[in-house]
Amino acid sequence: MITWEEFDGKCLDCHKCRLCETRTNVVIGKGSKKAEIMFIGEGPGEQEDLTGVPFVGLAGQLLQKMLLAAGIDENHYYICNIVKCRPPKNRVPLDDEITNCMNYLRYQFLLVRPKIIVCLGSTAAKAVIDKNFKITQQRGSWIERKGVHIIATFHPAALLRDVSKKKPAWEDMKSIRKKLDEITA
Ligand code: URA
Repeated sequence: MITWEEFDGKCLDCHKCRLCETRTNVVIGKGSKKAEIMFIGEGPGEQEDLTGVPFVGLAGQLLQKMLLAAGIDENHYYICNIVKCRPPKNRVPLDDEITNCMNYLRYQFLLVRPKIIVCLGSTAAKAVIDKNFKITQQRGSWIERKGVHIIATFHPAALLRDVSKKKPAWEDMKSIRKKLDEITA
């Protein structure tokens, strides 16, 4: 099995797709490496690219507030993205970029061994759950794969654009908290 050091090295050296040409930093992940919950976003934005840390921009700050309100602290989660390098102008990552980067996500999953996976937004849900996933219709429902509980919710950036999504996203956050309580009981 790969170590975290080897994994970080592989990510930092990665030149598998065009995103390496425009990145400032590779954005690998943050949070507890023994977390029960793994949150998966789409890809780094501008602030994340500049700092090398995921979810530090406005969307990340909103997510942080929601997690705090739900009582989910950094000991309980690890957060990362489908692609580890910022797509230019924050465009949606292309299929080949996602395919190339999914192996890194698999390593992260094997290293952290979370019991709960939360896909943040459509790109993550399509890559992790089902390529035809419809976020508006299918968010908030749990599925189970090999003992891992998986759910998708709106991406926090979508909540900033459309406040009507905040209420269902908050319901999802409470459901995630409940699942955490169940699996740690
Ligand atoms: N949006 C994402 O999907 N990931 C980040 O790290 C930041 C914003």
